[in-house]
Amino acid sequence: MPITADICRYLEVDLTPEIARGIDAIFYESSNTKSFETERSRLAFRDRWLGRYLRNDPEFAYLAMRPDGAVAGYLVGAVDDPAAHSRFADIGFYADFSLRTKQFPAHLHMNVAAQFRDNGIGRRLVERFATDAKAHGAAGVHVVTSAGAQNVRFYNQNGFEEAARTGPAGELVFLARVL
Ligand SMILES: CC(C)(COP(=O)(O)OP(=O)(O)OC[C@H]1O[C@@H](n2cnc3c(N)ncnc32)[C@H](O)[C@@H]1OP(=O)(O)O)[C@@H](O)C(=O)NCCC(=O)NCCS
Repeated sequence: MPITADICRYLEVDLTPEIARGIDAIFYESSNTKSFETERSRLAFRDRWLGRYLRNDPEFAYLAMRPDGAVAGYLVGAVDDPAAHSRFADIGFYADFSLRTKQFPAHLHMNVAAQFRDNGIGRRLVERFATDAKAHGAAGVHVVTSAGAQNVRFYNQNGFEEAARTGPAGELVFLARVL
């Protein structure tokens, strides 16, 4: 039986401490970076890829909620061109991709808890964000990931195609989808 989850707007969920902890647990469990020199660097990492989106762009954040109230996954995103907005200036690769981010300004970060993957939750999260980003006027959406990552296949299945690469060996790939 497929695992069910409702895709909810972050702003419409009653954000209990348990749910907040659930989002963080999925974030840290899914990230490739597992060890941090200091607590401060651990929190800065969280803020870079998750916290600032929840703070600055909560209308483009979504939670996949299980019937028992647990979080199965999340998507955070923004619709502004990140190469043109100072709030993303700390992410170096956006300068390299600035021609592409103009065409595909919306971007997202998402993770689904390991035990709930492969049930279409990721696909439904992407579709919710794509619909809202389009309604907000974004012409396209992108993600940046590692060229060899397993998630490239997921994004390809969801309409994203490689539009650029950067890094000494082309290891970062810009995957884009027209909205
Ligand atoms: C990528 C991810 C968000 C997709 O969510 P999902 O709910 O599993 O996605 P769906 O069920 O809609 O789609 C299934 C597809 O996801 C991909 N997928 C499944 N498990 C995966 C994993 N551990 N890592 C990356 N991609 C995975 C596969 O392409 C799969 O399709 P296939 O079964 O035909 O190969 C989720 O697998 C995940 O969180 N992975 C680990 C972290 C990650 O890569 N996040 C994205 C950072 S850019």
